[in-house]
Amino acid sequence: MSKNETPFPADFLWGGAIAASQAEGGFDEGGRGLSTSDMVPYAKQTDYVDLAAHMSRSEASIREAIGHPGSEGYPKRYGIDFYHRYAEDIELFAELGFKTFRMSISWSRIFPNGDDAQPNEEGLAFYDSVFDELNKKGIEPLVTMSHYDMPIKLSLEYGGWKSRKVIDLFVRYAETILNRYRGKVKYWLTFNEINTTIIEPYTGGGLIAERENNLLEASYQAVHHQFIASALATRAARSIDPASKIGCMLARMIHYPATSDPDDVLAAQLENQLNLLHTDVQVRGAYPAIAKRYFADHHIKLKMEAGDEEILRENTVDFISFSYYTSLVAAADPGKYGVTGGNLYSTIKNPNLPVTEWGWHLDPVGLRVVLKEFYDRYEVPLFIVENGLGAVDTMQADGTVEDDYRIDYMRRHIEQIGEAIRDGVDVMGYTLWGAIDIVSASTSQMSKRYGVIYVDQGDDGRGTLDRSRKKSFGWYKNVIATNGAELE
Ligand code: BG6
Repeated sequence: MSKNETPFPADFLWGGAIAASQAEGGFDEGGRGLSTSDMVPYAKQTDYVDLAAHMSRSEASIREAIGHPGSEGYPKRYGIDFYHRYAEDIELFAELGFKTFRMSISWSRIFPNGDDAQPNEEGLAFYDSVFDELNKKGIEPLVTMSHYDMPIKLSLEYGGWKSRKVIDLFVRYAETILNRYRGKVKYWLTFNEINTTIIEPYTGGGLIAERENNLLEASYQAVHHQFIASALATRAARSIDPASKIGCMLARMIHYPATSDPDDVLAAQLENQLNLLHTDVQVRGAYPAIAKRYFADHHIKLKMEAGDEEILRENTVDFISFSYYTSLVAAADPGKYGVTGGNLYSTIKNPNLPVTEWGWHLDPVGLRVVLKEFYDRYEVPLFIVENGLGAVDTMQADGTVEDDYRIDYMRRHIEQIGEAIRDGVDVMGYTLWGAIDIVSASTSQMSKRYGVIYVDQGDDGRGTLDRSRKKSFGWYKNVIATNGAELE
């Protein structure tokens, strides 16, 4: 293959991704209600190897946060002020040549309490403006309906997604936005990283851990309700706009066995089966066989209603989207090994891999493994909607950020996507996570930066909020312009 040949198809969707709760800000503007993510305070990186532990919230901490005036100490409440600066940001995305831009809608901007009789027109109008701006620039919006934020009332008063009543409230929200943005938005994702409801039940499902006797059972019940809600939203999307394409979204947590000992292999296999349980339900339309034994072993009795199985079977997704940052390691006896950080939870350290400043394994080849495995298992199009490097960037005196480490990360991952495409995998697109610096989901840090666009704001929220181009900006722009042919 010559230097200028690319494995990427001509219609490959290159772009970037953010989430409302980490970028938008304006938490008390435009009629928006408080959400679960508004309750997660800032934490210094060194305080938490186990990120999920920090994201989990007690009822007392939620009530304290609700009483906390303003946004100091709660960076997700101000984000990077995308709420007011979206036009400027989209201008930069257009300069990068983005074909698509992944963002989420804040549920509590549309239904401030979650169970309001009418949607909030000001919130609906805000997203009209954003989508119009994107469409004007020829950038296809890719919209997540729920990305780690639900109206706080649904968490506190309904018990989050454990309550079956939340299904109807979500479906009404989904129908509202599907109708409103018909013709403006073609690509939809229902729940961001749906497996987070099991890993961190507050973040993913609005569950308050101390209220549950069997938290694992409550979490699987919550995710079951999300599966049903997602299937019903998929059905609604198809009837409202037959041209729309709906995907599920999984945090792919690939586990390697710590050794070739069959017991370690079995431990890793179970982790992978449980991770893929979510895509099994949303793509194949049914729970995998392993669920029965796993649920019995963990005293999990799912409450299913008549018709649930049919809803899941008949409304499977069009494509799988997923995040991939790192790989993990499993062992029959994990206590024997050292640990390191990871997305959402820590893991056994893999001696073959370097780690990021936050301790996450750097494993580009793992992305190829994941792509091939997904495609072998499901044979549906795949969309990498999150991948990127969280790093501390230093702005030089002349205003430049020399982020060669980020270029290296992206190059090595994009190369592996190219290899997977050559292996025969159908990949629809790639959206760089946090293409513009945003507040971190786990620690609410601003100093953990993922972007090719720098945002002048510190962990304490101070700064001009000016946007500037990092070195990686020019590099990614050229990758997109050459459709992945030039990665040097
Ligand atoms: C994913 C989430 O799990 O990881 C994002 O979908 C998040 O919302 C990303 O930002 C990176 O995690 P963090 O904690 O570094 O922001």
